[in-house]
Amino acid sequence: MKAWGGRFEKETAAIMDDFHSSIHFDYQLAKEDIEGSIAHAQMLSDCKIISASEAEQIIAGLNKILIAVNNGEVNWDPAAEDIHMNIEKLLINEIGELGKKLHTARSRNDQVALDARLYLRKEINNILMKLKELFDILIETAKRESQTIMPGYTHLQRAQPILLAHHFLAYFEMFKRDYERLQDCLKRVNVSPLGAGALAGTGFPIDRHQVAKSVGMGSVAANSLDAVSDRDFVAEFIFDASLIMMHLSRFCEELVLWSSMEFGFVEMDDAFSTGSSIMPQKKNPDVAELVRGKTGRVYGDLITILTVMKSLPLAYNKDMQEDKEALFDAVKTVIGCLSIFNPMLQSLTFNRERMLAATKDGFLNATDLADYLVNKGIPFREAHAVSGKLVRYCITTKKRLEELTLAEFKEHSALIEADVYPVLEMENVVRVRSSYGGTSFEQVDQQLELARQWVNSLNNN
Ligand code: ARG
Repeated sequence: MKAWGGRFEKETAAIMDDFHSSIHFDYQLAKEDIEGSIAHAQMLSDCKIISASEAEQIIAGLNKILIAVNNGEVNWDPAAEDIHMNIEKLLINEIGELGKKLHTARSRNDQVALDARLYLRKEINNILMKLKELFDILIETAKRESQTIMPGYTHLQRAQPILLAHHFLAYFEMFKRDYERLQDCLKRVNVSPLGAGALAGTGFPIDRHQVAKSVGMGSVAANSLDAVSDRDFVAEFIFDASLIMMHLSRFCEELVLWSSMEFGFVEMDDAFSTGSSIMPQKKNPDVAELVRGKTGRVYGDLITILTVMKSLPLAYNKDMQEDKEALFDAVKTVIGCLSIFNPMLQSLTFNRERMLAATKDGFLNATDLADYLVNKGIPFREAHAVSGKLVRYCITTKKRLEELTLAEFKEHSALIEADVYPVLEMENVVRVRSSYGGTSFEQVDQQLELARQWVNSLNNN
């Protein structure tokens, strides 16, 4: 008979058991479920709802089950529906009738919400660790490439030269925001719903704050209906995960482009590349492509949770069981992607000559020519037009701006003197962009130092 079978005359159909059972995925919450149950049993005894010796036996039984879970020795029973009933069943097998007292003053509705929160808290911390690894690699690479000049792009057209370090530090900023978003999300994950009961609270003299404290949660959910029907924290987390994936995917897209023969900016390590079954010469950037591809999964998970929740009346509805596969998938995908992206990124070799050479074609110093004229006293819009005409002249004469003679320059503007040549050198084009957050060597060094300090402050917390 089912744990809830009292009011039923017949067993559920086998196909019904298959359909509504969640044990094939929520077994992943086993440890959290046991952790929550231990805290609950202890509180029941402290509040004199069960005796101290009963709590002791229940807790000992749960600890035994935990060991079996950790050793992979438990066979989950689909007929017992979900992880909560499976563990209760194992407990009753272990310690007998007393096991039936554990569920006093509790419902699976508050229990599953607690389990999901404990699980997500742990996994967010795992993701934060992976992001820290990534910060170290970004900073290390930015330091190594702090003199490497490459084209910066807009519309994927060469625009102005930048430092490769500057490009890496742009990603640092993106992942730093992701890190902070997850830290903020943790505040809302780390709230205990336990004690909300099925939806309305309980008549037993429980102490919700004690349970919260013993599982390391700073606060308790204030409203019992909200406590059991809130999955905002799942949606919020998957959104945060989606942004991490979006940032990884943009980075991956660039690495796919940069490793192509057309760009030739970067060489991927053999360890993170694959070949073709037919074309012997191929070396494909599979890691970057797969991370880019898996971004779609996480976006899908976000749409899943948002859609599952959108029309649910208060409080718990079984629809909410659908939250978990999306959550697990998002967690697994982000951690999996960061775990391989990090070493792949660390193993890249940049082709500095090729990057510098790419800055030479495409008039990446045309803005600097205009700025030069502004410094000689003409309004920017006019200077822009003069520089534009010179670019057009260069295109027809197949020259670079810096290859024009002074006479050619003067045909377009009498203000241009020999001092224009150093202005047009790529190194100087980079050097002058020293506004705060710009790509100059000096600014990038400063931003690198600030990045380092921020990462150190994380380690010291
Ligand atoms: N397996 C369920 C879930 O994941 C647990 C809560 C079940 N509650 C209920 N009243 N059927 O949501």
